[in-house]
Amino acid sequence: MTMTSPASTRHERIATRRTVLMCRPEFYTVSYRINPWMHPEDPTDTSLALTQWQTLHDLYASLGYRIELIDPLPGLPDMVYAANGGFTLDGMAYGARFQYPERGPEGPAYMDWFREHGFEVAEPVSVNEGEGDFLLVGDAILAGTGFRSDAGSHDELRRIFGREVVTLRLVNPSFYHLDTALSVLDPDPEHPGIAYLPSAFDRASLEILEERYPDSVLVGDDDAAVLGLNSFSDGRNVVIASRAAGFEASLRERGYVPHGIDLSELLLGGGGVKCCTLELRW
Ligand code: ARG
Repeated sequence: MTMTSPASTRHERIATRRTVLMCRPEFYTVSYRINPWMHPEDPTDTSLALTQWQTLHDLYASLGYRIELIDPLPGLPDMVYAANGGFTLDGMAYGARFQYPERGPEGPAYMDWFREHGFEVAEPVSVNEGEGDFLLVGDAILAGTGFRSDAGSHDELRRIFGREVVTLRLVNPSFYHLDTALSVLDPDPEHPGIAYLPSAFDRASLEILEERYPDSVLVGDDDAAVLGLNSFSDGRNVVIASRAAGFEASLRERGYVPHGIDLSELLLGGGGVKCCTLELRW
């Protein structure tokens, strides 16, 4: 008898070498409040943020990823969250247009970087916060809206990349970017794998997720509350918040190799592993 195992229980996970863009948190602090995690009245420790960020950087290097760096700019404390800098695919970069003026200048800074590094840049018309809200799974782009990126940006994505774009509506202000509520574990079109926090989505979006990805890892509130879903996977290695213990166990069960990391200082700005990581797809 032949045994076939569904995607959820496959135990041979294959890593694909990633190229990522990161930004050192040299000017990191919390000086304004644009998400519920941020408390400008509380102190932050920039040198601790730098140390924790370096650990993430070095872990990526040890996993064999190619790492590109963009220079941090003074006065842009959130620039460390590189995921918001744009969305890249097929050598094209769709630039970000930030919702809050505090982050506005990051958009052009990232677009300049993309241009200087061989991407064809599509200037954004609609508000959108890049890979914070847009995640590639198989041949489709999952696109969040509700808090930051406008639904209009989903149409732009469709036009620019010619891919299927699946709109998902976020409903919990603590999970304001798609990458805080949903994690792509395996982007392979043959056996896509994702994890998500069901309560972060409206009913219609949940139905879409359940139908498209019946084998998903459903993550609980405790893991989501430490931004456990804000993780980065190469198809085998999954870099996650070390405090997301339940998520870590689910990943192991499915044959992934979780790598826990502590980014507590960057959590004060409302970001984690994935927020600090923009995937580059030339
Ligand atoms: N303080 C930043 C903001 O509110 C955090 C961004 C987190 N990035 C992410 N990709 N979820 O915009």
